[in-house]
Formats: sequence, C-alpha cells, structure tokens
Amino acid sequence: MENLESLKRTILDEIKTADSLKNLDDIRVANMGKKGRLTEMMKTLSSLSLEEKIALGKQLNLVKSEVENAILAQKNILEEKELNAKLAAEKIDITLPVRPETQGRIHPVSKIYEEVVAIFGQMGFDVVNGPDIEDQFHNFNALNMPANHPARQMQDTFYINNDPSKPFDMDQAFVMRTHTSGMQIRTMEKQQPPIRIIAPGRTYRSDYDATHTPMFHQVEGLVIDKNITMAHLKGCLYDFMKAFFELDELPVRYRPSYFPFTEPSAEMDIGCLKTKTELKIGAGTDWLEVLGCGMVHPNVLRAGGINPDEYQGFAFGLGIDRLAMLKYGIPDLRTFFESDVRWLKHYGFTPLDFSSLTGGLSNNGGLTR
Ligand code: DAH
Repeated sequence: MENLESLKRTILDEIKTADSLKNLDDIRVANMGKKGRLTEMMKTLSSLSLEEKIALGKQLNLVKSEVENAILAQKNILEEKELNAKLAAEKIDITLPVRPETQGRIHPVSKIYEEVVAIFGQMGFDVVNGPDIEDQFHNFNALNMPANHPARQMQDTFYINNDPSKPFDMDQAFVMRTHTSGMQIRTMEKQQPPIRIIAPGRTYRSDYDATHTPMFHQVEGLVIDKNITMAHLKGCLYDFMKAFFELDELPVRYRPSYFPFTEPSAEMDIGCLKTKTELKIGAGTDWLEVLGCGMVHPNVLRAGGINPDEYQGFAFGLGIDRLAMLKYGIPDLRTFFESDVRWLKHYGFTPLDFSSLTGGLSNNGGLTR
C-alpha cells in the first residue's frame, strides 16, 4: 500500500509538471500502457490471495482513475496553452496598410506620354525617336522654312556652335530642336509610304513664364499614304481627343491657321467650361486650343524624298505638358521641372497604375480641376 501511495504521488507530480501534450502522452504510456507501471502492478494481482486481490484491486482502480482524471485535466490546460500560443503567433494587425506603399511616383509628363502612346498605338501608329540637337535642315529648311523665312522668328531658338574651333556661324549652327516636326523629315528619309508615326520628345525655346519653360515636350504625328484627306485628319484627332479625355462626346472645332509645313493648316479647339475656379472639358461654351495640324505641304514631301503627286498626308503637333496641365488641372508649368518631391507626390501616379484603353487611362472621368 505504501508503495502504491508513493507511486501515485510521483505520477500525479509528473503529470502536473508535463509541459507539452507529447510529454503528457509519454507519462500516460509509461504508467497505463501495456508495460506501464500501473499495468504491471495489475498483473501481480493474480498471485495474491482473494482478500488481498480485492483490496489491492480496488486501490489500483482508484489510483488509475485518479491518474486518468489528472491526465485529462492537464491535457485541457496544455491544449489551451498551445492554442493561445498559436493565436498570438498568427495575430494580424488589420490597421496596418495592405502592403507597404510604393515610394516613387510617375511624373504627369511621363503619364501623358504613356497615354498618348497607348491611344495612337492602338490606332496603328509606330513610335519614333530622334535627336534633341538638330541641324537647321531638319528643324527649318526641309519644313518649308528657308533661311530668312519670317516663320523662323516665331520660335525663340537656341543655337549651338557645331564647331568650337571656328567662330560662330549662324548658317552652320545646330539648334536645340524647337519642335518635333523635324521628325517628319527624318522619318520620310528612312521610310517610304505608307507612313503612320508619332514622335514624342523634348523640345526647346528661349521662353519662361507660367505656361512656357525653356524645355518642354511635344508629340509629332505624321500619316502619309495615297488618297489621304483632311477628313482622315479630323476623324483621327477627334477619336484621339475622346479617348484621351475619356469622354464619349466632345465638342471640337478646327480653326484656320498658318504653319509653313502644312497647307491648309488648322488649330484644333475643344469645348470646355471656364470658371474662376474650374475648367471642365467637354461642356460649356468656351473653347480651348489643343493642337496644330494640317495637310503636309508638297515642299515638305519633296524635301523628304516623297512624290507629292502620288502621296498626300496629314501632320499634327501637340504639347504634352499642356495636355497634362489641362487634364490634371496643374496651373503652373514651371513646377513640372522643379523636382519638388511634395509636388510629385501630389500630382504623380503610382507605378502600378498602367495606362491602357481597356483598363482606363488615368481614371479622372474627363474632368480637370
Ligand atoms: N511644330 C508646331 C509647333 O511647334 C506644331 C505643329 C503644327 C506641328 C502643325 C505639326 C503641324 O505637325 O501640322 O508649334
């Protein structure tokens, strides 16, 4: 009896200090399993007298059930402990942002560039690039602006001495391209019609105020094929503007204008509502000039090596920065190039925001602020 009593105390102590379910099960097997300490004691009963058998058997059964209860109680405690530990490990702080916010921002100029390329790309235009430092032939002469042509004074040109070993020679000087129109000539030199290209890029003029910066961005467009008419120009640019401002209907008008490299020439206006605080595109009775365009002048086709009796074409030029100011309601162009990260955080776009015609361009519903 002494023996059984002390064994029971030992077992109950072991159970109480078991620190894992595995540990607890080992204790159970060591005592109640096939070769467990209590099981072995049960086996010894057969060698005892009847009275002893009854007395010890009763004791043993009591101890067994006490041990079983203790194991069960400890099991509950350990299970709860393990669950709490698991819950603590898997805890989610739902107030945290879904994923760390991306730091960089896409500049509005890059965004408009992407949008313009996405729209014209879908219309079947190729994108071509050319040099920022241009010769006068491509920037002026071939565009029907020979030396001393008054139209050269329309643009405040930066001239660059192309040979520093000699004195500056105005006739030979290179220029920072004043427009992307030179890309019309560079494209014609490389490619026979049909031609359907846009040429986005940086352009330069000596000018600085709220709507002019010395460096700005343009996109040139050129389409040349047989039987191209002004109707193609109008349809193409109308479709572009609707896609760009994400509107189904958009009032537009073409005003007669003058550019040396197109004949006839026009400027395209879109309908809008101007108030002191707001500019709303697509409604109202005001007009806003958005681009210059026209039918390519026969002299320009000739300069590019294309026979004007066989081919016709249209061209257009639009200002990317101006479109960004309109679409996103940014009042001062100079801020575009000040590299102020607070400005970029406000007006910029997240890198994951791709421009596509199916997914939406910049999703502003065609309204500008
Ligand atoms: N190059 C002109 C400018 O910078 C814009 C322009 C007007 C381009 C008419 C064209 C065009 O291709 O046809 O002001």
